[in-house]
Amino acid sequence: EEDPRINSIRTKIRVVPNFPKQGIDFLDITTLLLDPKVFKNTIDMFVERYKNKNISVVAGIEARGFIFGPPIALAIGAKFVPLRKPRKLPGEVISEEYTLEYGSDCLEMHVGAVQHSDRALVVDDLVATGGTLCAAMNLLERAGAEVVECACVIELPALKGRERLNGKPLYILVEYH
Ligand code: PRP
Repeated sequence: EEDPRINSIRTKIRVVPNFPKQGIDFLDITTLLLDPKVFKNTIDMFVERYKNKNISVVAGIEARGFIFGPPIALAIGAKFVPLRKPRKLPGEVISEEYTLEYGSDCLEMHVGAVQHSDRALVVDDLVATGGTLCAAMNLLERAGAEVVECACVIELPALKGRERLNGKPLYILVEYH
């Protein structure tokens, strides 16, 4: 049966119709962050899953992977690596372009942030088409890291994002239909 923490997490996610454009239901996790108990439960669920999996790097995707990734990284004793939108990182970077639910974009990672021996967890708030997670995995694998799993708070199963992950496991807490 379902972990009782899941329903409180689901309840705290706000749906904002027609944002950022007409016809899009935006799933807003800032309302979840306003409840420290539910925010902690969210982090704890990921930490319980990953604490004994020898994860050496948590890679967080801009912007909301920067909210969930660091507390997970600290709790499991892994380093945190930000995967950023273009022209934000000051050092030498590698880049991956991807297509999005609305538009296209690019993610960048600092050269030297991960090593060949690293075991990586990719963290974001939500998977829609899976394009963003796919780009994140490509960056880590190009740098020689092993991607163990992707973890998101929310999945939109209708958009079939899992099919873009080349069989890589995806762990989510809440589905939104
Ligand atoms: C959202 C979300 C994921 C991505 C998922 O980010 O936070 O990063 O879209 O979409 P996909 O599975 O179709 O690739 P957004 O584009 O809103 O960027 P932001 O976090 O910088 O606002």
